[in-house]
Amino acid sequence: MSRDDRTHEVSSESKRTEGTYKAQSERAARGAVSSPSAEPAPSADSKKGHGSRARTKMVAPPNDYLVPERDALLTPVLECRHLGIDFGGLKAVDDLNLMVGKTEIAGLIGPNGAGKTTVFNLLTKVYQPTRGTILLDGQDTAGMDTARVSREGIARTFQNIRLFDSLTVEDNVKIGLHNQVECGMWSGIFRLLRYWLSEKEFHDRALELLDVFNMADHAGDIAGSLPYGAQRRLEIVRALATGPKLLLLDEPAAGMNPVETEELMDNIVKIRDDFQIAVLLIEHDMDLVMGICEGIVVLNFGKVIAKGTPEEIQANPQVVEAYLGKQD
Ligand SMILES: Nc1ncnc2c1ncn2[C@@H]1O[C@H](COP(=O)(O)OP(=O)(O)OP(=O)(O)O)[C@@H](O)[C@H]1O
Ligand SMILES: [Mg+2]
Repeated sequence: MSRDDRTHEVSSESKRTEGTYKAQSERAARGAVSSPSAEPAPSADSKKGHGSRARTKMVAPPNDYLVPERDALLTPVLECRHLGIDFGGLKAVDDLNLMVGKTEIAGLIGPNGAGKTTVFNLLTKVYQPTRGTILLDGQDTAGMDTARVSREGIARTFQNIRLFDSLTVEDNVKIGLHNQVECGMWSGIFRLLRYWLSEKEFHDRALELLDVFNMADHAGDIAGSLPYGAQRRLEIVRALATGPKLLLLDEPAAGMNPVETEELMDNIVKIRDDFQIAVLLIEHDMDLVMGICEGIVVLNFGKVIAKGTPEEIQANPQVVEAYLGKQD
């Protein structure tokens, strides 16, 4: 994730120096701005005790961005430059600069109405930006539509669960898989061997993915009949089935009890590790955010007010004033 390493507040300039990203990264890695993690900074609100697991060393590849050290020499999976969208006179998102490392778990937080979901809608082309650039794995996504960015590697879940309620759990996952595996029209129509083979592959793969959340036993259940937490998990599995490079999770813990949330945290880390992908998540549960996110961006009224590690964000007075101080 990115930040201005002098002030921890967003820089209005997202400058990129000449030369290759790799060269910049190597330079930065040598003199990296890092946030070693042995001793977390005191929490701005110690009463809340937002948990911290093993901390990642964060480095600043080009200029004012911050990504995990292990991603420093790799093209970032996501980079937004001066991204913005207006709805009439409302600047719902304005001058958003952020970077997500190839295998980073990043957080996007802020008060209700801050523009978080709108950022996801911009990344997935539900909305076309009014201003700015989105690079996915180094590729400019300008002109792409929702289906194309999905094929290029962005998958998401929704703040309000969107499943095919009347289909089985397995079929919901297979819909995601169809995004990945090509099955020609003719082989489908005539039920040729290849079709049956791919159906078997789909079945096996769907069960494998459901196993990430120990849900394989529920493959035949009707999705709409699952408890709320299980539906949220199924939505993540369906998104994973599209084979993303970047998984966007919009309030994945909403409606989950503390035990489910704790399991979810472990599973998000496991997904990142097993699939070697990046996760950008929106969440109001600060134990989850501070517990697993490596870099965090804070939005308020559509603008970034802070970027940094969990420790830096919790100690940032502007964030405490605008958001953290108002949390339960
Ligand atoms: N299609 C739209 N047309 C007009 N205004 C919109 C549209 N989508 C979002 N907005 C406005 O943009 C602002 C940001 O909304 P958004 O849903 O992104 O907030 P959020 O940070 O996700 O909030 P929450 O935490 O409540 O989910 C809000 O003022 C919202 O009313
Ligand atoms: Mg939202």
